[in-house]
Formats: sequence, structure tokens, C-alpha cells
Amino acid sequence: MTVMLADGHSMPRLGLGTWPMNDQEAHQAVTNALTLGYRLIDTAASYGNERGVGAAVAETPVAREDLFVTTKLRGSHHGYDAALRGFEASRARLGLDYVDLYLIHWPLPGRGLYTETWRALVHLREQGLVRSIGVSNFTPEHIERVVADTGVWPVVNQIELHPGFPQSGLRAWGADHDIVTESWSPLGAGSKLLNEPVVTEVAAAHGRTPAQVVLRWHLQLGAVPIPKSADPGRTRQNLEVFDFSLSPQDMARLDDLSTGGRIGGDPETYVEL
Ligand code: A2P
Repeated sequence: MTVMLADGHSMPRLGLGTWPMNDQEAHQAVTNALTLGYRLIDTAASYGNERGVGAAVAETPVAREDLFVTTKLRGSHHGYDAALRGFEASRARLGLDYVDLYLIHWPLPGRGLYTETWRALVHLREQGLVRSIGVSNFTPEHIERVVADTGVWPVVNQIELHPGFPQSGLRAWGADHDIVTESWSPLGAGSKLLNEPVVTEVAAAHGRTPAQVVLRWHLQLGAVPIPKSADPGRTRQNLEVFDFSLSPQDMARLDDLSTGGRIGGDPETYVEL
């Protein structure tokens, strides 16, 4: 199951998130996920586990062209030259010739360097070192600025998204501009989301787990969820979401869980180095 990006590349509809895993945990979790059938793996320079992800990718019998590896540029590498260096360091840690999707992890608007940084990503794509380029935690205003500067649109915006924080305005804006929304912390990152009565009721009605119902909600919104699990049973369970569907009523009940609250950082103020 894949989604077509605006640049013509296709991306799996669901992937494995790897935060917070160290190299050893990521090596094991990614190896297991690839065996189970995951093809999209999401990491970031700031997670400190690109070597572990790379080790799993080096060892897997899955062909490189069937894998989709995403990593992200950390805040300390904003700026044109710094971004090129940051990318090269990530690529070397991953041990890859190219990365499928490279994202600017946070806009850091206070530093005012994200448009320059975006120009470096455009260059990396032109060089063939990165197949697709996108952003993470960007608002429409941030995206409009990088597009005004370069004429190049990101094909993905990876944002915090779950039924407790459904981001309907940002998702709709992205869809209008051919930007695929990827969901980080799709299960609510260990918050009480999976124990909410609405989630457990819908899950029971479908004979599924709360996590499966929440992942199905993402898929039916058109978003690409990247649930993190270091547990083989839960990793398997999180992939078994393509053989049932939620009704419009189920979707509406889950939408209604919105608490308006973020779990993670606010894009306007969050400083990640
Ligand atoms: P674990 O790694 O022990 O499975 P998110 O992707 O929203 O950040 O959520 C990750 C958190 O949810 C982790 O604590 C992870 O723990 C847990 N988790 C992942 N998959 C499931 C699942 N199917 N059921 C319950 N908890 C899950």
C-alpha cells in the first residue's frame, strides 16, 4: 500500500517510528519490522539512532529499492552549508547511497534560517542524494516562505497528529497543495488516548485493538502514520490495519476526541538542536 507523492515517487502508507530508540534498540526494532513487512522507516539525526537503522537496512534481504528511509535535519544544521554537512553525516551514519525522504525537522523560526536550509535540500535532491524533500512541524506560513524563495514545494509535512490533536485545518491546507501529511506520535505517544472510552468502544465493536483503530483513523484521513514500537507483538499489530475499515460514524466519534492539546513542541517556539 503506497501513496503517490507530488514529485512522482511513492511512499508506503504506514511506517515504523524510531523515537526514542538508541542504536541497539533501533537495530533490533527495524530488523524485526522489516521481517514483518514494514517498508517505511523513520529516523532523524537528533534521535541518535541512524547507525542502528543503517545496520538493520544493511543486513536485510529486502531490496534497497523496496525500502523507504526517511531522516531529518537537526536544528544545529540549519543554514545552507551546514545543511549539506548535516545531510552528509546522516547519510554516512545510515550507510546509504541515497535517502528516500529528507525533512527539515523543525522550522526554528526564531533563527530565520529555514528558507536557506530548504535551498540546500533542493540542491541535494537535484544531486540525486535524496529522492524526495519535505518538512516537519511547518505551518502554512513557513511553507509559503520556502516556496516563495525557491519555487519548490515540499511533498510531505510530518506533524504531530492523533485524535487528541487532529489538526484538521493544517491537513486540509496540505491536501489542497498536494502535500502528504505524515503523523508523528500517531498513537498519542503513550498518553491516555488508547484508554479513552470512545477508542476502546470502537475497537471492541470491530474486534480490534485501540491502537489499530487509531491507525485506521489516520489511514482514512489520508495521513501516513509512523507508530513507534519496540515490542514485536505491537509492531505486528500496528501493521495489521489494512483489512478493516471504520464507518463515517466511527470516524466522527474519533474526530470528536480533540482536546486541542499538543503533546510535543509548538512549531513557532520549539528549539531542537
Ligand atoms: P512500545 O514501544 O513498548 O510498544 P507513538 O507512536 O504515538 O509515539 O506511540 C508510541 C508509544 O505507544 C510507545 O510507548 C509504544 O510502546 C506504544 N505502542 C506502540 N504500539 C502500541 C500498541 N499497538 N498498543 C499499545 N501501545 C503501543
